[in-house]
Amino acid sequence: EAEQDLKDKHVLITAGPTIEAIDPMRYITNHSSGKMGYAIAKDAVSRGAKVILVSGVTQLECPEGVERVNVKSARDMYEAVHQHFEWADVVIKTAAVADYRSKAISEHKIKKDNSHLTLELVPNPDILQSLGEKKTHQVLVGFAAETQNVLEYAKEKITKKHLDFIVANNIAEDGAGFKGDTNIATIIESSGAVTAYEQMSKLQLGHVILDKVKAYL
Ligand code: PMT
Repeated sequence: EAEQDLKDKHVLITAGPTIEAIDPMRYITNHSSGKMGYAIAKDAVSRGAKVILVSGVTQLECPEGVERVNVKSARDMYEAVHQHFEWADVVIKTAAVADYRSKAISEHKIKKDNSHLTLELVPNPDILQSLGEKKTHQVLVGFAAETQNVLEYAKEKITKKHLDFIVANNIAEDGAGFKGDTNIATIIESSGAVTAYEQMSKLQLGHVILDKVKAYL
């Protein structure tokens, strides 16, 4: 049995993609499988934490002992996360949230007529940033999915979203990012400290992240 070094800590994790409806049959989403967030949830619960997992639509089974809250859109996720924010000692935002949604959701299937169709997109709320602005005692951890200038963009997100640290991954790299069972990450802390990790399983990376969280509790 794992050491109970997070005993009774309240850990709120988000995982998976959001889906943003266009009409009754179509939506906007991304490649997130949820594996990274579910792996962190599994490790946290094995270390004695109480875990709430706010999950977008995934194919994954909920890890035993984890309380899952299912959501679809970014706005659903926003509501669910804010609902549990006071409860949380730690928030880890692994979810790949759609930055934009369709301005209108058509009640009926949009029919084709062979001319161009323009979809107007409007920005979704930034969930993590909104938490950063109201945080009190919580340790706040973000993820950064990038394909270029990984460290630079990740650092900007730490400041903008008031994070304690961020886990950056290059989603264009083999063995990292979406869908697979492994990831390659760099942790950047608000102090400026940067630690790059070798490729490892998402479960191992979850353990590394939670070790880092412990130092902030
Ligand atoms: O699910 P898997 O298939 O295992 O893949 C894992 C992963 C690639 C999804 C994961 O490792 C990862 O990188 N997650 C972050 C994806 C993302 O949306 O990154 P971002 O750089 O666009 O966002 C930065 C941070 O802000 C993230 O913590 C995100 O949850 C948060 N955010 C973003 C937009 C928004 N509107 N609200 C948010 O809270």
